[in-house]
Amino acid sequence: MTKGRTVFMCQNCGHESPKWLGRCPECNQWNSYVERVLSPVATRPKAQAQELSQVSLEHSPRLVLPFSEFNRVLGGGIVPGSLVLIGGDPGIGKSTLLLQVAGMVAEGGGEVLYVSGEESVHQIRLRAERLGVLGAGLYILPEIALGNILECAQELLPRLMVIDSIQAVYAEGTASTAGSLSQVRECTVRLMQWAKSSGISILLIGHVTKDGTIAGPHVLEHIVDVVLYLEGERFSSYRLLRGVKNRFGSINEIGIFEMRDRGLVEVTNPSQAFLSQRAEDAIGSVIVPTLEGTRPLLVEIQALTSPSSFALPRRTANGVDFNRLLLIAAVLTRRAKMTLSNQDIIVNVVGGIKVSEPAADLGIALAIGSSLRGIRVNPSIVTIGEVGLSGELRAVSQLERRLAEAAKLGFKACLLPASARLGLPPFPQMELIPADSLSQALKIALA
Ligand code: TYD
Ligand code: MG
Repeated sequence: MTKGRTVFMCQNCGHESPKWLGRCPECNQWNSYVERVLSPVATRPKAQAQELSQVSLEHSPRLVLPFSEFNRVLGGGIVPGSLVLIGGDPGIGKSTLLLQVAGMVAEGGGEVLYVSGEESVHQIRLRAERLGVLGAGLYILPEIALGNILECAQELLPRLMVIDSIQAVYAEGTASTAGSLSQVRECTVRLMQWAKSSGISILLIGHVTKDGTIAGPHVLEHIVDVVLYLEGERFSSYRLLRGVKNRFGSINEIGIFEMRDRGLVEVTNPSQAFLSQRAEDAIGSVIVPTLEGTRPLLVEIQALTSPSSFALPRRTANGVDFNRLLLIAAVLTRRAKMTLSNQDIIVNVVGGIKVSEPAADLGIALAIGSSLRGIRVNPSIVTIGEVGLSGELRAVSQLERRLAEAAKLGFKACLLPASARLGLPPFPQMELIPADSLSQALKIALA
């Protein structure tokens, strides 16, 4: 056997060096270099160039699950031979979700190989019992050596394979411990090659780690076909499955689930779920029809202002961008003459949702104004609009879909930028209240 060349690689950032270094010049981490044997490049049969118009359009159908929130994020089901990475914090519910998915595929008549490097077969059986997963056609393999895993998969040739988790498996011949960057990367590349050559889809679990001691899913994003993140607040039962990369569909789609005692349950009407605990006369609360991918979603934005005991008042943003909050606070101070320099401001999006679009600006501004003035915003209206630095309001995209969602949930009116009404077809379900500027919107909402 030819001996492979060796390089040294930083376990923190992936920087490579021909010799060992005590401190990484890229990320300044100490003692992060480990040796990695580069496998000799295998000679492969030469590929043939094909004229694009001659390439067949036929392809094998996607594996569609009876879990439509999951299908949605994937762009309509699992593409055969694809490698899908599902990342998330430990304990968020990744194993639960994929055991449910595995159970569904097995019930639909396809065999599934569930490789568990973290839990025993017995533990998985207990969980399956709770989730109502029967387990016929579902094979559990407690193994962490990649060679053995692929051998077993080659014998079984399942419809779907789940690896729980990428940090637990190791590839023989790579000189570092399981979970290290070089291991995680090597295993992923080999799984990718296997998925492509066998046509069997693989769902790969990857833990996100805050301290970076074990390599997280971010370093794998460019290797795999699809990257999904399962997110949620620790104390909220809602879980969002978010598409970050998708070679077979659009990204920015989200699937919404709720963690119950019998596993993850789809939330089919998320707007209603997120608004269900709203206090009608709450001061500092505003409803905003946001758009997540193609899906309109009504969220409640809450703000609380309170006199600061610090020279530098504090701003806290949960679910909205911190810099956006600073911008809105500055515009409120300068253009709407609100005294916020002696106030701490906390902004929160209910249900652990993250709102990143500027279309929520006006909602954030009104929530802050409502809290500062102690006046509630009419609970039957929603608001949408981007706020500019001179206090002007800007139109937002796809207004009709947002309005339709709000109307569906019984809201009567929408406060929006005057310019947004131009070109909008008549919308009889809802009263449209135009405002030219942030000051005017505040006047209307806090009358
Ligand atoms: P798990 O899937 O083990 O998380 P991960 O694989 O991402 O680390 O989920 C663990 C949490 O989910 C655990 O705190 C208990 C909770 N849970 C439920 O609430 N209901 C259930 O039916 C199951 C199986 C787990
Ligand atoms: Mg797990």
